[in-house]
Amino acid sequence: MHEVIDPNSVQDTGTTQTSADATAPEGLLFHHANDGRPLATPWQVATERSLRLLDVQLADGIIVDPACGSGLQLCAHAFTLKRPAIGIELEPKRAQASALNFQAVASLAKQQAAPWCAQTRILSGDGLAADLALASVNGEATPCVAMLQLDPARPRNSRLHDLSEMQPPLHAVLDAWKPWFSPHERGPAMLLDLSPRLSADQREEVEEMVKQRWPELEWMWVWTSRGRGRVDRLALWTGPLASRGVNRRFVRIPPRLGERPLVVDTSEPIAPLSVTVHPPQRGEHVSLLDAALVESGLVNSWLGTVSKDRDMRWGMIEGRRPQLHHPHPLRLGIGDDLLVQASGKVVALHQGALTDESVQDVVDLALEHQFKSVKLRLATPPERQPNWQGSLDRQLLNRGGHRKGFVAQHPNGMTLLLCVEPETERP
Ligand SMILES: C[S@@+](CC[C@H](N)C(=O)[O-])C[C@H]1O[C@@H](n2cnc3c(N)ncnc32)[C@H](O)[C@@H]1O
Repeated sequence: MHEVIDPNSVQDTGTTQTSADATAPEGLLFHHANDGRPLATPWQVATERSLRLLDVQLADGIIVDPACGSGLQLCAHAFTLKRPAIGIELEPKRAQASALNFQAVASLAKQQAAPWCAQTRILSGDGLAADLALASVNGEATPCVAMLQLDPARPRNSRLHDLSEMQPPLHAVLDAWKPWFSPHERGPAMLLDLSPRLSADQREEVEEMVKQRWPELEWMWVWTSRGRGRVDRLALWTGPLASRGVNRRFVRIPPRLGERPLVVDTSEPIAPLSVTVHPPQRGEHVSLLDAALVESGLVNSWLGTVSKDRDMRWGMIEGRRPQLHHPHPLRLGIGDDLLVQASGKVVALHQGALTDESVQDVVDLALEHQFKSVKLRLATPPERQPNWQGSLDRQLLNRGGHRKGFVAQHPNGMTLLLCVEPETERP
C-alpha cells in the first residue's frame, strides 16, 4: 500500500531543502529532496502550461501525476484548474517535498481549505500501482481521473534519449492508468512530458503506443522554450488537451512573469529544411532565428506570419544560430522578437575570419558605414569574445554613427557580414 500524505497536515521535518525558483512569485519557496530540484518543472513553465488548460473542458474527477517528483507541475495544475489531485512518488522524501509544496502554494494564496488543496493527497509508492493508489485514497478504485500528468525521470547526461530510459516507462503508465479515466467524448486527457531531444522516429514510437491503446485519440505535440535556443519541454497533449485542428505547437515562454507567451501552431505536415549556400551578397537580409523554433520544425509556419518573401534560403539550420537569407525585412509583430536573435540587411562584407588583427578592420568598416553599435553574432573563442566586443563598443561610441547592427559569419565560413537593423536606418 502507499503511504498517504495530506498537504494540509504534513510537517516539515527538515529532510527536504528549500530553494527559491527564480521564475516563481516572491515569497514562494519550494521543497526538494534527493536532488529533486533539477528534475522539477520551473514554476513559470508549469503555470503557463496549466493556464493553457483553463479553456479545456475536462471530465469530472481529479488530476493524477504518477511520478510527481517535487510536485511542481501537479501543484500548478491543481491550483490553476482548482481540481484536487493525487501525486505519486517513489522516493519518500520527494513525496514529502511534494506535499510541502502544495502547502506552500496554498498558504501563500490562503487557499488551504479549497478542495484543490484540502482533497489532494500525495502518495509515497509506485505510480504504476494505479488501483492500489486510488483505493488508498478513496477506499476503492473507481474511474475518476480527469487528467493524467506524466513527467518520467530520465538519466542525466543521457546521449541516447531513448524511450526505454524513462522511469516509470511510458507504456507501463498507459496500461496501468487506462481503466481509471473518467469518460470524455474526446478520450483521455494526458499531458506526457518526454525528452526534449526525441527524434521524429521516437515521436512516432510514442504515437504508436498511444494509438495501440486508444485508436481514435487526437493529440498535439508541444515544444516549449524559455529562450537561449533550447527546447525545455517536448510533450504530447492528448484528447481534450489537444486544440482542434492543431497537431504541432511551439510555445516561447517570455522572459518576465505575467507576459504572454508567443504561440505558433500548425496542422500541416512538417517539410524538412534544406541548406542552400549562395555567395555573400550586399543588400540581402540575414536573420539569425531561434534554434528551438527551428528544431521544433515550426519555423516555416511562423515565417509565413512575418514575411511574404518566396525566395528565402537557409544558410545554416544546425547549431545555435540558424541563418536565413531573404530579400526583404521581416515584419515583426509583438512578441516576434523573442524568436529572432538578430535580423538585418548586409551593408558590407569582410573577407577572412575574425581574429585579434582583423577585429580592427571590422571596427573601421563599421565606422565607415556609420554604426554606433555592432554586436558579434558568430562563434568566437570564448576567451577572445569580450575583448573583441569591447573593442567594437569602445571605438564606435560617440563617433557620430546612428546605425545599430551585428556581424554574422556567412555559411561559407570565410566572409563576415556586417548587417544593419532596419529600424535604425534614417528615413
Ligand atoms: C522528472 S521527475 C518529475 C518532476 C515533476 N514534474 C516536478 O515538477 O517536480 C520524475 C520522478 O518520477 C519518479 N519515479 C520514477 N519511477 C517511479 C514510479 N514507478 N512511481 C512513482 N514515481 C516514480 C522519480 O523518483 C522522479 O522523482
